[in-house]
Amino acid sequence: MRKKVTKAIFPVAGLGTRFLPATKAIPKEIMTLVDQPLIQYAIDEAREAGIKEFIFVTSRGKSALEDYFDNNPILEQTLRKSNKMDLLRTLRRTNMESGAIAYIRQHKALGLGHAVWCARHLIANEPFAVILPDDVIASEEACLKQMVDAYAETGGSMVAAMEVPQAKTSSYGVLDVKEDMGALVSVKGMVEKPKAEEAPSNLAVIGRYILSPSVLRTLNKKEEGAGGEIQLTDAIAKEIGGENGVYGYRFRGKRFDCGSKAGFLQATVAFAMEREDLRDELGEFLRDMMAAEQAAQ
Ligand code: G1P
Repeated sequence: MRKKVTKAIFPVAGLGTRFLPATKAIPKEIMTLVDQPLIQYAIDEAREAGIKEFIFVTSRGKSALEDYFDNNPILEQTLRKSNKMDLLRTLRRTNMESGAIAYIRQHKALGLGHAVWCARHLIANEPFAVILPDDVIASEEACLKQMVDAYAETGGSMVAAMEVPQAKTSSYGVLDVKEDMGALVSVKGMVEKPKAEEAPSNLAVIGRYILSPSVLRTLNKKEEGAGGEIQLTDAIAKEIGGENGVYGYRFRGKRFDCGSKAGFLQATVAFAMEREDLRDELGEFLRDMMAAEQAAQ
C-alpha cells in the first residue's frame, strides 16, 4: 500500500522584489488576488488534495503570514454579534488547526532545493507535496488533487507539467520525455532553466510536486546547479532510473504566473470573471474599455 501524501511544503522565503514597493512591508503571498491573499489559493488547493500538514519555509519579514493563519477571536466575536455569518464563515476558512501548520526559516537564499531541504525534519520518510504559491492554477479539480490521484497509480516522484513556447523554456525546469502517455509522461531527464535552443522539449515544470523522501537525501549534498543555486529540479532528476522513476503530469486547468505583474493581473481578471458577484460589472467595464480603445485606433 502506497503511503498517502498528507504533508505539503510551501516555499515562501522569496523577497518578492518584482512587486516592490508593494512588498516592502507585506509578504508577496499576502498580496490580494480578488479578495483573498495569494497564499489562500494554495492552501485551498492543498486541502482539496487531502493535505493535513502545512509547512511554510519563510524568511525575515514574513510574520504577516503567521498572523493570517492565526485565529482572530475578537474579529470573530464582532462578526457574530453583528450577525454577519457569511463573513464569519469566510474568516474561519483561514484558520488552521493547532499543530497543522509549521514555519521553518530559510536563513540564506540558496535556492528552491535548499528551501525544501530546510523542512526535511518535518517530512521524515514519507512522500510529500511542494506547492509554489506564485503558480496559481484555475481548474475544476484542484491540480494537486489530480496529481495525488495519478500518483496513487505511479508512485515515484511527479511534477506538474505544461507546454510552453520554446523561447520561454529558459524560465523553467524542462522535461526530457521518455514515454508520452497522454496526461502522464515518464521522464528520462530534467534541466533547470536551459538555454532555449538547448531545451530537451517544451514541456515545462510548473510549481506542483509530489516527491519521494529520497529527494531530501539528495538535497543533503547541497550541490549547486543553474544560477549557482541548489535546485530542486536537479535533485528530482537524480531519481530518474531509480526504483520508482519520475513522471510529468499534464494537469487540466489554466496556470497563471503570479510571480509576474502581467500574470497577477491576468489571474485577477480571470478569477473575478468566475465570480457571480463581480462578473457583470467587471465584464461591462472590460468590454467598454476595449471598445473605447478600438475606437481610438
Ligand atoms: C521554479 C523552478 C522551476 C519551475 C518554476 C515553475 O523556478 O525552479 O523548475 O519551472 O518554478 O514556476 P522559479 O520560477 O522560482 O525561478
